[in-house]
Amino acid sequence: MEYKCLIFISILICGGNASFDLAGGPKSNGTFPKGFLFGVSTAAVQIEGAWNEDGKSESIWDHLVHTNKSFVKDGSNADVAADSYHLYKRDVEMVRELGVDIYRFSISWPRVLPTGRTNLINPKGIQYYSNLIDELLKHNITPMVTIYHWDLPQKLQDIGGWTNAHLVDYYTDYANVLFQNFASRVKYWVTFNEPMQTCLEGYGGTYRAPALNRHGIAEYLCTHNLLKAHASVYHLFNDKYRSMNGGKIGMSLDSNWAEPKTNSSRDKEAADLYLKTHMGWYAHPVYSSEGNYPPELIRLVNEKSRQQNYTRSRLPVFSPAEVEYIKGTADFFGLNHYTTYLLSMADGEVGGIPSHENDVGIVRIQDSSWPSKSSSSWLKVVPFGFRRLLNYISKNYNNVPIIVTENGYADFSGVDDHARVSYYSHYLNALLHAIHVDRCNVHGYFAWSLMDNFEWDDGYV
Ligand SMILES: *[C@@H]1O[C@H](CO)[C@@H](O)[C@H](O)[C@H]1NC(C)=O
Ligand SMILES: *[C@@H]1O[C@H](CO)[C@@H](O)[C@H](O)[C@H]1NC(C)=O
Ligand SMILES: *[C@@H]1O[C@H](CO)[C@@H](O)[C@H](O)[C@H]1NC(C)=O
Ligand SMILES: *[C@@H]1O[C@H](CO)[C@@H](O)[C@H](O)[C@H]1NC(C)=O
Repeated sequence: MEYKCLIFISILICGGNASFDLAGGPKSNGTFPKGFLFGVSTAAVQIEGAWNEDGKSESIWDHLVHTNKSFVKDGSNADVAADSYHLYKRDVEMVRELGVDIYRFSISWPRVLPTGRTNLINPKGIQYYSNLIDELLKHNITPMVTIYHWDLPQKLQDIGGWTNAHLVDYYTDYANVLFQNFASRVKYWVTFNEPMQTCLEGYGGTYRAPALNRHGIAEYLCTHNLLKAHASVYHLFNDKYRSMNGGKIGMSLDSNWAEPKTNSSRDKEAADLYLKTHMGWYAHPVYSSEGNYPPELIRLVNEKSRQQNYTRSRLPVFSPAEVEYIKGTADFFGLNHYTTYLLSMADGEVGGIPSHENDVGIVRIQDSSWPSKSSSSWLKVVPFGFRRLLNYISKNYNNVPIIVTENGYADFSGVDDHARVSYYSHYLNALLHAIHVDRCNVHGYFAWSLMDNFEWDDGYV
């Protein structure tokens, strides 16, 4: 079956324009290293339900889907979702039945702190996560906690959300409550899940909550505060809680792989620019030797801002002390990866003016011959992109330990899911090559997701 799929992909390659082997290597004879972590991931909004139960307040996702009925494709919401708030014991059994080592879930800030601040700590919220953690440990499953997976308390959005610099302190206070209660039982922590989705899509665009659409301005302010918040929580953990049980803390960044559309030097430059100005926007300040935003992003936003007659760049500036404070604040690189794009330089202006898209000035497409039977049209099956991305991260960020915190494939539901089986076979094969042939330092791999759930604007379709 596995081998047939490789042949299947090769046939499509011959028929299409792509001139490379999508599979990312022949069938590997390698095995995963001893101690390699296999896991599954979820997020609070997507599975918990109980959106207003036991003292939980409204999150920005509750607010968005309740106030804009056309935001979600099927008009649904996350009020009940997979009802994991009530069914968590059965969910943990499912994790056990899968035979994986580790479960990554997120904690809902408004469930733990209904005002967003620590003046009120909700005992029922703490109890829920405490029970979940104990249930996992009882089954010998290691918990991994994502502190922030997109569900800001609406009360904090009302005062500007991540564009408000005070969020750095409020987020640190929130994380401190989690560490006080759970750090003795939880070894793995993720500060932020896919911050680019939060800032670029939520503040710069309309695709994620809070759907502000203040492009060119708000995505940069959001990112600036979020990176400081990440560093602040890393230092808190490092100084006060790590010694409890030798825990580890990192961030989970989402990235596509970027391949040049052709071999022209301009397209190669575009692919390089894509990685530097998207994943690198978050990775360079934390994981590079130099720290700070990537020099290319600073140059591009400064230039555009000047042309647009702004007195100062729309990209905020880190002081030298802040660059040092943020640099090196992670024990591992969490990577969420799904697919690959082809990049070229834009001819003329692209995107809104101003916007991150317009500042960067590149265009991405996918090759229509790339295989995909996914319910997400963008989810093309390109395993070699995964291998190249792992190599890129290893090379550019000092061979950092990588944990793949998300990878997976959306289908049209049902258990007859051969396309999903094929996706996992090929991506895991590419991962084996990255580990054994390329010597990438990969420590774990999480499938997204444990179960069908509320897929944001796609609802349950
Ligand atoms: C695995 O494959 C490599 C080449 O890809 C080969 O050198 C090696 O001998 C193989 N090992 C086994 C155990 O078959
Ligand atoms: C609601 O969401 C839809 C889909 O994203 C969007 O087109 C529309 O502008 C939104 N409505 C409001 C009032 O924001
Ligand atoms: C790019 O260059 C490689 C190696 O020189 C070649 O094999 C390939 O066909 C070229 N691809 C395109 C799209 O021109
Ligand atoms: C910036 O100011 C100059 C001089 O006043 C003007 O010519 C130019 O059109 C302005 N640019 C934009 C993008 O508004």
